[in-house]
Amino acid sequence: MKKPTVLELKRKKGEHLAMLTAYDFPTARLVAEAGVDLILVGDSLGMVVLGYDSTVPVTVADMAHHTRAARRGAPDAFLIADMPFLSYATPGQAIETSARLMKDAGADCVKLEGGIEVAPIVEALVKAGVPVLGHVGLTPQTASALGGYRLQGKDEESVRRIMEGAVALEKAGCWGVVLELVPAELARLVTSRIGIPTIGIGAGAHCDGQVLVFHDVVGLFSGFTPTFVKRYTEAGDAIRDALKRYAEEVRSGAFPAKEQSFTIDSDVLRRLYGT
Ligand code: KIV
Repeated sequence: MKKPTVLELKRKKGEHLAMLTAYDFPTARLVAEAGVDLILVGDSLGMVVLGYDSTVPVTVADMAHHTRAARRGAPDAFLIADMPFLSYATPGQAIETSARLMKDAGADCVKLEGGIEVAPIVEALVKAGVPVLGHVGLTPQTASALGGYRLQGKDEESVRRIMEGAVALEKAGCWGVVLELVPAELARLVTSRIGIPTIGIGAGAHCDGQVLVFHDVVGLFSGFTPTFVKRYTEAGDAIRDALKRYAEEVRSGAFPAKEQSFTIDSDVLRRLYGT
């Protein structure tokens, strides 16, 4: 699949863009081979790959390491890298972080969380030539201040914050906005009021695109499955079963069999050791 430009992505408003996370060489390769439009190296890797209980501890070094691996697995994909918590507090820091993720690690674009409050940061990045994807609604890096991992946009203040945030992000130059965990009607309204694509996660069917976490979709993360996730397979069960059989076969001596072993001309050993 040919990599889209940011301008082409902006023009895909109204199309159904499929986006998935991937954090390493094999998962990025699988996602790209499946023809998914956009790959996000999300800081959700802190939870589903590194075992933290939030995305807060994830570092720029973690993100660069995983972005590099994902890029090797999907050399032609449009790859978005999350800027981790407290790595874009000032325009200067945001530019430094995006340089690590784009120049050193190979991302095509960065994503950051927040609405009106991050608009000046987005403006500075876009002015410097960095493509930016915004993210409003539930913003996991600051979930604690939002009352935890829960539906946003239920009361007037929260609805206004999300709508004004999305509008500000478009004005600041984002090419698209992720809407996370908001009512479908609100996502529909935001989608109709801004001119850039919205990409929903737990935001209903009216966004311009959808994103999910790879490990949730394939059943590899058993910690917690949000209700908006659809698990398309239970790869974790298949892998656990295969590993159990491996351990049993090692213990019983069934593995390795002749087919997984190598031979040597018996004369070589006889001449050396008489056996
Ligand atoms: O980190 C992540 O995976 C994300 C998606 C949930 C949008 O931000």
